[in-house]
Amino acid sequence: MSLQRMLKLLYALVLCVSANEDFDWTKNERGSFYYGTFPTGFSWGAGGSAYQTEGAWDKDGKGMSIWDVFAHKKGKIFLNDTADHSCEGYYKFKDDITLMKDMKFNHYRFSISWPRIFPNGIKADHINEKGIKYYDDLINMLLDNNITPIVTLYHWDLPQVLHEKYGGWQNASMVNYFNDFANLCFERFGDRVKYWITFNNPWSSAVEGYETGEHAPGLKLKGTGAYKAAHHIIKAHAKVWHTYDTQWRSKQKGLVGISLLADWGEPVDITNQRDIEAAERYVQFYMGWFATPIFNGDYPQVMKDYIGRKSAQQGLGTSRLPVFSSQEKSYIKGTCDFLGIGHFTTRYITQKNYPSGRGNSYFTDRDLVELVDPRWPDPGSEWLYSVPWGFRRLLNFVKTQYGNPMIYVTENGVSEKVQRCTDLCDEWRMQYFKDYINEMLKALKDGVNVKGYTAWSLLDKFEWDEGFSERFGLFYVDFLNKNKPRYPKASVQYYKRIISSNGFPNQREVESWRRKATETCSSSNQLLAAARRKSQQDSKEQAGMPKVWPVHDEV
Ligand code: NOJ
Repeated sequence: MSLQRMLKLLYALVLCVSANEDFDWTKNERGSFYYGTFPTGFSWGAGGSAYQTEGAWDKDGKGMSIWDVFAHKKGKIFLNDTADHSCEGYYKFKDDITLMKDMKFNHYRFSISWPRIFPNGIKADHINEKGIKYYDDLINMLLDNNITPIVTLYHWDLPQVLHEKYGGWQNASMVNYFNDFANLCFERFGDRVKYWITFNNPWSSAVEGYETGEHAPGLKLKGTGAYKAAHHIIKAHAKVWHTYDTQWRSKQKGLVGISLLADWGEPVDITNQRDIEAAERYVQFYMGWFATPIFNGDYPQVMKDYIGRKSAQQGLGTSRLPVFSSQEKSYIKGTCDFLGIGHFTTRYITQKNYPSGRGNSYFTDRDLVELVDPRWPDPGSEWLYSVPWGFRRLLNFVKTQYGNPMIYVTENGVSEKVQRCTDLCDEWRMQYFKDYINEMLKALKDGVNVKGYTAWSLLDKFEWDEGFSERFGLFYVDFLNKNKPRYPKASVQYYKRIISSNGFPNQREVESWRRKATETCSSSNQLLAAARRKSQQDSKEQAGMPKVWPVHDEV
């Protein structure tokens, strides 16, 4: 169980706090719906990532990634699931593009699997042309259908060899290896790809990969591992941006950004200065950790102060937060053509001192506690509460902190737990999209420079340590069926209407969307239930189990 979840359980208090009226941009607006449309040219799409969707984990010359190896270890993933097959996106991308075309997507966000291109992580070793061909075909078909590819270079699937030989992101040599990989992608795909994301959510790679160990490679280097990994990731990002800038930009005319995940942190007590500072710290330790070096040249002052002080109290000669040289600072500053924002949820934050000593960690370094309001809707993943107003605040924070950068929302969406009955009539997802997209529209009216929105995700897929137990997809995937058929949830129809109206034109129309979207989902539910019963039966028969029908239509 993640620390966030434990905190949630421990501190799920009823919070009698009212809206924070301190911020101008939310005055009298919380809860009110804004009818209006997005600027012409606003880009709509959805996303996924290589390890989560592709399958074909050992096919056509692909090497192992840290996720292949991690997921195959017992006890790491819910029900010991792996993404060996997942959605079989490697084979079904043509079908998926047909779905996107029908929804009139402007863009599709996907990631390139590094070990599919360099099976041993290193260019000098071997380039896998079959892997290149897969991405070539995918990119070409997207473009043939007028869908712009937004391509992530690192969505967590580091080649296993680099982990085994060097310790992965703990080692500075990753900077050059990643740059070689990125450079090859620019060379081979950059004539057609114009939006590059270096890293997806490096916070997770650093904290969950090297601090809590819940994610691959599963290291638990408390208080140091995440800071070191992040330090190398930031340098690698900057190097790749410079490579593009000096070698490819003038020919290819594309953009290179990074995608950062951030929850919003709201002070529990808005009259309490300590809570206000704690909430700011929460966001700085989350998004600011990466965004501040990239936009302003160095780590947030508050991180340097807190981690530095705690390291000194521990008797360490230097801070556990690594230091950038002045040369590095100016090299890193300004290396972002657009900022990708992944956002799902919000926390209330209050101040709490964690005395330093043994057991220091990224989490205790922040001196705060995360709280949730149990009245917030919580339909799926335990950590994911629907708090739409937090999105607008986060976007405005980005605008003021980093000089109003160009933003693409690279992830936003909500899951359902599979323990619940299969239901394609996903009312809560429609509500979530409606409210979050509306808050993004308000942020645009506040002057935030948002250019596009990516629903997360196109398909149900492998949800990291949660395996297949959490479904984020617009399309339901029947994982028990070898062919991994996709079924549209009602939210497909709903999102389609948002896209075709480019926002929320007027109350009458928007209010009819939900009804129209749910018109067909009950019959799709019946179809799916029948198909699932059949695939459950088939898989039992294959496993030599007796012929019985499930009592509940549970997934
Ligand atoms: C962020 C990750 O980038 C993505 O892969 C994941 O599916 C979502 N969070 C939801 O947990």
